[in-house]
Amino acid sequence: MSDTELQIRILGDPVLRKKAKKVKQLTAGHRHLLSKMARTMYSAGGVGLAAPQVGSDESLIVIDAGTGLYKLVNPKIVKKEGRQALEEGCLSVPGVSVKVNRAKKIIVQALDEDGNSLSIEAQNLLAVVFQHEIDHLEGRLIVDYVSFFKKLLLKKKIKKI
Ligand code: NI
Repeated sequence: MSDTELQIRILGDPVLRKKAKKVKQLTAGHRHLLSKMARTMYSAGGVGLAAPQVGSDESLIVIDAGTGLYKLVNPKIVKKEGRQALEEGCLSVPGVSVKVNRAKKIIVQALDEDGNSLSIEAQNLLAVVFQHEIDHLEGRLIVDYVSFFKKLLLKKKIKKI
């Protein structure tokens, strides 16, 4: 890990369970953090990263699911349609994948890093990644979607991390 990247927090770190705070005044510090988050995401081979995963409690996410980089502030899902379930992994829960029921198509409202309002329509994989990262801002992780019985099996695996 170089000094331009951030350390990714792993399941068990309390910051992952904190609800992120809305950014009230966007500063150069936020832009700097978003850039570092993007570098960290690319270097870890991820498709998304949320601020709590790097120890921040602010409402920031970065996403690149193959259709370009989004750096978003205060993202919020304003519309959900349809259903899909994909196997999801998470950089904060290494070695675990969970099939999660999500909306197929969503509309996200957010600010870009310059404070401009955006409305983004996403579907399929990109919609999953948005929902996954916005979950992080609520302190929610993929393990929360696992059934009771699968959780017992996963617990053994997670303990080894
Ligand atoms: Ni994640």
